[in-house]
Amino acid sequence: MEHTSKRYDFQDKRAGYAELTGDLQALLEGESDAIANTANTAALLFEALPEINWAGFYFLRGGELAVGPFQGKPACVRIALGRGVCGTAAERRATVVVPDVHAFPGHIACDSASRSEIVVPLPGADGLLGVLDIDSPEPGRFDEEDARGIERLAAVFLAAGPAP
Ligand code: SME
Repeated sequence: MEHTSKRYDFQDKRAGYAELTGDLQALLEGESDAIANTANTAALLFEALPEINWAGFYFLRGGELAVGPFQGKPACVRIALGRGVCGTAAERRATVVVPDVHAFPGHIACDSASRSEIVVPLPGADGLLGVLDIDSPEPGRFDEEDARGIERLAAVFLAAGPAP
């Protein structure tokens, strides 16, 4: 599989995200199955992004977030809106970057190796669909350029078809 053997150069973040965005588009092109696309998006991001230990989705289910396809250690299944980093991003409908998860009140520790985190909301036509969550074992792993890059990746995922 070409997608999983490729090396990305994130020394130049702009170039790295541009290449990864194009690869995600190609990976999802012509396929609208929600589970296939969600699982493959999580797998590609986990493979491509350096220094991460969890990448995946939470989707809104009955007013709270439930874990979806991901790569990494098994995660807490349900998160109430407003709770943790995921619930905060979902409630605010805004990207949340946490440089030090130990300093974030209410952070939910699914993998004790996680030190920093980014959560990007996934808006749908009729309201929030869920969030894309990425954890890193490195403090301060995600900056503004990562936030914009991962938001673009989320937009490519959303454009490919309906979320599960
Ligand atoms: N840390 C997240 C919970 C999900 S795991 O990181 C996969 C949070 O505080 O919402």
